[in-house]
This record gives sequence, structure tokens and C-alpha cells, in this order.
Amino acid sequence: MSEFTGNHILTVNQFNRDAIEKVFDVAHTMQPYARRQKRTTVLDGAILGNLFFEPSTRTRVSFGTAFNLLGGEVRETTGMSSSALAKGESLYDTARVLSGYSDIIAMRHPAAGSVAEFAEGSRVPVINGGDGANEHPTQALLDLFTIKREVEYQGKGIDGLHIAMIGDLRYGRTVHSLSRLLCLYKNVRFTLVSPKELAMPQPIIEAIENAGHQLTVTEQLEGNLDVDICYQTRIQEERFPSQEEANRYRGKFRLNQSIYTRHFQSRTVIMHPLPRDSRAEANELDNDLNLNPNLAIFRQTDNGVLVRMALFALTLGVENLVTKYERDVIWHSNKSSD
Ligand code: NCD
Repeated sequence: MSEFTGNHILTVNQFNRDAIEKVFDVAHTMQPYARRQKRTTVLDGAILGNLFFEPSTRTRVSFGTAFNLLGGEVRETTGMSSSALAKGESLYDTARVLSGYSDIIAMRHPAAGSVAEFAEGSRVPVINGGDGANEHPTQALLDLFTIKREVEYQGKGIDGLHIAMIGDLRYGRTVHSLSRLLCLYKNVRFTLVSPKELAMPQPIIEAIENAGHQLTVTEQLEGNLDVDICYQTRIQEERFPSQEEANRYRGKFRLNQSIYTRHFQSRTVIMHPLPRDSRAEANELDNDLNLNPNLAIFRQTDNGVLVRMALFALTLGVENLVTKYERDVIWHSNKSSD
């Protein structure tokens, strides 16, 4: 049992450095199961309600995969129009009902604050899988887990990190949550690159300043940046008042190998929460970066499974029982060599 047991995960504000370390420690222990070297049935019989009322591929599937890897079962509801919310049901009622069918719920919804509102009606823990432009706490944890691994490989830690965040910092919930988590560390330098209209919201700027971090705000990539992490984002077209407005910014922040070489160091790690918009008019992370060893985007997605497994194990209070319910994998698995 830990401070996580039985509790919702709604915002990164719930976490301090010790709690983050605990999640990361448990995430490390999940590696043999994610790599199919072993399997565990510690959540045998448990049901995850996976409710996604907004488009999602990796967050939805990695929540489900993480739960399956712990031996649990997944019930999915996707799309607003196929749920009773389209008939005018309140989030409270939906939560009251669906929490009767699940042991834990992961939820994504287009409105800021909606997952917290839903959690008030839920009788089981609720994990926020993204609420509008507000927060995406599990993505921030997997991003930070990735940052930690990548910089540790270079002999550094998160304290003293220099990160550039690029693109749509206004509507991008992943950079909101990640910035808040980084406020728990020491001497972090932020370089925020976006058009004025898509700037990081003021409360987050204030949190960065109050944490005593160095902050540079600029409208375009300029000069040679001495950054450890380049965190690229997608223009969040679905959150703009109109498509025309979103189109205005599409393609403004392309990153390819030659732009990378011009502005970054050979050690700079490239991250993106994905999906990357690969349409020619956007091409925000060119395929010519695929061979760059510093492109960490697929390490991020793999790490997402470990972190979500850890959050499920901690929330359901089984983090110390995982090995007790361990078994051998009897099929051939290519993943074991990952
Ligand atoms: C992000 C999201 O949904 O906020 N994707 C994700 O969860 N990995 C970022 C995005 O959609 O651009």
C-alpha cells in the first residue's frame, strides 16, 4: 500500500519528487513483463474501463496494454456519439454507472476539468488521459521518465536540464503538465519557442518563474541552442476556433536533420508526444530524423507502457505482489530482445 492506493490521478500537481521517484522505480521493475521475458497475472480478474471521448491511439492502447500486461481485462468506450453522454447524461451519472463495472478507469475528454468532474461521481480511481488543453499527467510522467533515462545516459540528471519546447504551447496539454513537473527540479532552463498567439499560458510561466528557473521566450528558432532536450509539439488544430486559424501555423515549426544540425547540439535529444503531423504542409518532425540516434519518440512510447503499468500497480496496491504472480513466457517473443 502506498499514498497512491485507491486514489485518482488527475493532475501533476499531486506529485512531489518522492512520488515521481516511486513511480519510476516501479516502472523499472515492469521491464521484464513489457519485454515479454516474464508474465504476471497480478491483476487477474480486474477490469479497466478505458473511456476515450477524443481521438487517441497510443494513450488509449498503451493504457489497455499496460493493464493486460498485469493480467487485467479492458473494457473500452470510444467516441462521444456512441455513449450516453450524447443523450445528455451528466459526467457524474456516467461515472457513477461505469465505476460499477470497473476497478479503475482511464479517461480522456475534450473539456478542461471534465475528468476531475467525472472522478467526483466515480467509486473507483480515475486516471486522467488528457482533459482538453488542460493536463495530461501520465504523458508528463512518461516524458520525464524518458528525459531522465536519456540524460542519465549522458551522465546527467534532471536538475540543471536545459529544454526547448517548440510549437503550440498554448493548447498543448503535454507541455503544460511537463513544465509543471519540471518545476519540482532545480536550475532547469526553459527555452519556449512559439508564435505569440500560441505562447505558454501565463499561470505556467509564473510557475516556472516562481520555481527560480531560467526562462527564454522567443518566436522562432534562432542561433545555436545548448539544449539537452528539444521537445517538439503538434499544432492542436482541434482546439482552434477555426480551421483557417490552425492552418496559419501549420508548417511554421518544421524540424529536420539540417535544421537540427543548425540549431542544436549533437547530443540534443529529440522528443515529441506524438502523433507527429507528417503531412507535407506540416512535416513537423521529418522522416530524415528517423535514423538520428537522438530521436527518442519511440523510446517515449515504449516507456509509456512501463509508466502506466506502474501507475496501475500503485493505484490498485499490488506493486509488491507483481513478482509473486509471475510466470514464464512460453511462446516465442521477439520483444525479449528489445
Ligand atoms: C498528445 C495529446 O493527446 O495531448 N498525444 C498523446 O497523448 N501522446 C499530443 C497531441 O495530440 O498532439
